[in-house]
Amino acid sequence: MSITVKGLVKHYGRTRVLDGLDLVVTPGVTGLLGPNGAGKTTLLRCLATTLAPDSGTVDVLGLDPGDRLQRTALRRRLGYLPQDPGHYPHFTAFDLVDYVAILKEITDRRERHREVRRVLAEVGLSDQARVRARKLSGGMRQRLALAQALLGEPDVLILDEPTVGLDPEQRMRFRALVSKVGESRTVLLSTHQTEDVAALCERVVTVDEGRVVFDGTPGELAATAAGRVWLSERPPAGPHLFWRTADGRYQTLGDRPEEGVPAEPGVEDGYLLLLGDRGRAAAA
Ligand SMILES: Nc1ncnc2c1ncn2[C@@H]1O[C@H](COP(=O)(O)OP(=O)(O)OP(=O)(O)O)[C@@H](O)[C@H]1O
Ligand SMILES: [Mg+2]
Repeated sequence: MSITVKGLVKHYGRTRVLDGLDLVVTPGVTGLLGPNGAGKTTLLRCLATTLAPDSGTVDVLGLDPGDRLQRTALRRRLGYLPQDPGHYPHFTAFDLVDYVAILKEITDRRERHREVRRVLAEVGLSDQARVRARKLSGGMRQRLALAQALLGEPDVLILDEPTVGLDPEQRMRFRALVSKVGESRTVLLSTHQTEDVAALCERVVTVDEGRVVFDGTPGELAATAAGRVWLSERPPAGPHLFWRTADGRYQTLGDRPEEGVPAEPGVEDGYLLLLGDRGRAAAA
């Protein structure tokens, strides 16, 4: 087990953001899906040792982030890409990553510079090494933050919405990079892109209202929508959840609309129906 979380609770004021969350993460790539405000960032921050939970237990690589010494040991083996990485606008890309490498205690200068060049190359920023952070595009800044997370080949990589702002080519590159890391180590990433989950993750965990509401393979999440995905030439009548697809047909989720023919379910269909069913259950 790389990560074991039991009964995690976190409040902000009177709002219960994590509601007794249980989770086990094994090596490989695991995707975290969930609506805005579900508690994904809060969970990832508890794992990345930047936030202390109110109660519950967290074990990452056999270490307890609540214990000062173990927390330091854990930080040496952890890479973390926060959802809103801050930047020092006047630092160059190289100096910024080098600064983090110093904090990561890579003390030998030559070795450290080699490592900085390696991670910049991994995210395709070798040509921008001497460019100041403020002059980089949004997607490049996101990749620069990812480079920092990759420093020192961490055993556990925690990535909060790593694909936001990446162009399609960089997104492919990111998938290749992360699946390579996932062959031997543990990657836990949050995303709103169900295509990322389908293409990249062996496992998908869905969080809603501070709890895990689904845990399985992307195929299993898609399969939960079996028999509830429909295509029709015309928009369905009545209160259906539907949208117009690129080929001009209408895709409907849930009960069969008039003229609807069954369609192959995808990860997004499973996810939307899962949340939709939960909404119905809460309203009933
Ligand atoms: N520092 C904070 N102070 C007060 N409330 C907070 C704070 N951080 C998060 N929250 C609240 O906690 C809840 C969960 O936030 P969190 O950022 O964990 O959600 P998320 O699943 O990451 O959402 P998103 O998909 O939008 O990133 C939200 O209701 C949010 O408003
Ligand atoms: Mg978030």
